[in-house]
Amino acid sequence: MTPDLKPLIVGNWKMNGDRDQLDQLAILAHRISHEFQQSVDVVVCPPATLLYVAKTISEGSPLMVGAQDCHNEATGAHTGDISAEMIADCLAEFCIVGHSERRNNHRETNSHVAGKVKACWRAGLASIVCIGETKAQYDACEVDMIITKQITDSIPEGATEKDTIIAYEPFWAIGSTKIPSLKSLKEIHALIRDILVRRFGDHGLRIRILYGGSVRPENATELLSIQNVNGALVGGASLQTADFLAICQSCQSLVRNHY
Ligand code: 13P
Repeated sequence: MTPDLKPLIVGNWKMNGDRDQLDQLAILAHRISHEFQQSVDVVVCPPATLLYVAKTISEGSPLMVGAQDCHNEATGAHTGDISAEMIADCLAEFCIVGHSERRNNHRETNSHVAGKVKACWRAGLASIVCIGETKAQYDACEVDMIITKQITDSIPEGATEKDTIIAYEPFWAIGSTKIPSLKSLKEIHALIRDILVRRFGDHGLRIRILYGGSVRPENATELLSIQNVNGALVGGASLQTADFLAICQSCQSLVRNHY
């Protein structure tokens, strides 16, 4: 964690969840309202089909809602796509962009991602920009180079802590039981912080850097204790309300004990 930066825990439901799951969302919103007293920011990113109703259910609770992707244009002939403006119209506040599953399955490049980040900013959404290397790049010791290029090319000039969050998600750690060593995570998050400060000055000191990839209740405390890990982007474990809450609770305990 980093003193003075409020941690952020984001649940990415990916292509999971139907209206039945909304009962769980209501429980989550209730528990967040009563147990978290604003010490941790919590966001859930359900599939687009549930976005508006998720926002309605979490109304009055500090639980926030985000989308998982957007198109870079506001309107147009793009069948099946959703614009950042449409996401904002659902009253969501965040949007994940550049997730490795998008980069991989939809061939999204850094420049596509930069267009989506600009779209988020235009619509008043905070972008959660995902970066991270593949296993082959990790094995070839290319992590620093890949991360540097992704941050440089995926994030437009002028990013601030209000409109940008970084999520470092090594592709090989997603949906697995593997996570990077704590030492290497510390080094990578320090590198990300350095790049952000060089590019965005004081804003770079305040932009939150999340870790994502196999975050579970059992490893949340050790991951969130690392310097410059300012929260987590949680996939699988966010589908189980108890697990997701346990991760948020670990984060809250760290805030209470250390800061
Ligand atoms: P898992 O937590 O299931 O590894 O997924 C991480 C992720 O991709 C979140 O965006």
